[in-house]
Amino acid sequence: MIAPTRNLALELVRVTEAAAIAAGRFMGRGDKEGADRAAVEAMRVMLQSVPMDGVVVIGEGEKDEAPMLYKDEKVGTGEPPQVDIAVDPIDGTRPLATGTWNAISTVALAPRGTMFDCGPCVYMNKLAVGPEAKGLVDIRAPVEVNLSAVAKAKGKSVQDLTVIVLDRPRHEKLIAEVRRCGARIRLIPDGDVSAAFMTAWPESGIDVLVGIGGAPEGVIAACALKAMGGELQGRLVARSDEEKGKAEALGYSFDQVLYLDDLVAADDVCFAATGITDGELLRGVKYTGGGIVTESLVVRSLTGTVRWIRGIHRPDKLRRVSRTRW
Ligand code: FBP
Repeated sequence: MIAPTRNLALELVRVTEAAAIAAGRFMGRGDKEGADRAAVEAMRVMLQSVPMDGVVVIGEGEKDEAPMLYKDEKVGTGEPPQVDIAVDPIDGTRPLATGTWNAISTVALAPRGTMFDCGPCVYMNKLAVGPEAKGLVDIRAPVEVNLSAVAKAKGKSVQDLTVIVLDRPRHEKLIAEVRRCGARIRLIPDGDVSAAFMTAWPESGIDVLVGIGGAPEGVIAACALKAMGGELQGRLVARSDEEKGKAEALGYSFDQVLYLDDLVAADDVCFAATGITDGELLRGVKYTGGGIVTESLVVRSLTGTVRWIRGIHRPDKLRRVSRTRW
């Protein structure tokens, strides 16, 4: 038995709140770059206040192309613990720019050296399920085998399962297979981090996530599912022989199954997310006369505690004490 330890997840939620508040001002303005810049800047300022010696493993790209939150950038105050950080200041830049659903801001944290570095790899095939089906699925198996396993684990029929898939032409065959099995489908235009999270959130009604999405998002989603007690398996996917060759030369394998412990090899993982636009999981930022209202969730795998946090932020006061643009 140990005394309760500091829960850095609670610090992380301030980071995603700040990024969501900055990004939310760009809703529907058709300015993806401006939104991203604002979110990254706000996230970085807030990350620097977190008492940790952090290094960005999943960030905005390499130093040469990303001025902030680039891979290997040091974040935090520099004091222990030493941790890996994964950031996605906006998951859903497109829906944010067009003022539609499900854009979130998210951050994950794990002990140093435990997060998978996806390097130059852009895409990952993913299979995510909640705690009931953990250990019962296999990304190499046909869809029908996995859906049967999930249905059995959840005590329902395959017809009653809801499978979430990114709506992309590359998923045409996959969608046809799911339909052949008789399962229900939720096609989403963007945002497979919250989609993966929803497989572990009973109220969402989502049972399984399948399909190819961003590789960095795969690592963040793995952190979320580790925290929630679910499972995510991944396999890197190359868009061309050239991309494959370059990544293989760096030691990446496109055959290897990346299990949850390959994606994040730790038991103490923290995940935080804040809604930017309204979504199924989180409500988006509201700028009201009485303050800015945010909705976030924060999870820590060590304890499994999930916190739903509604914040009311007072820009008039914050402007006096904080460097972030409120
Ligand atoms: P961004 O907001 O970074 O553009 O990511 C949105 C997203 O939908 C992710 O959730 C997903 O993993 C990825 O894009 C899918 O990539 P693509 O749009 O190229 O299919």
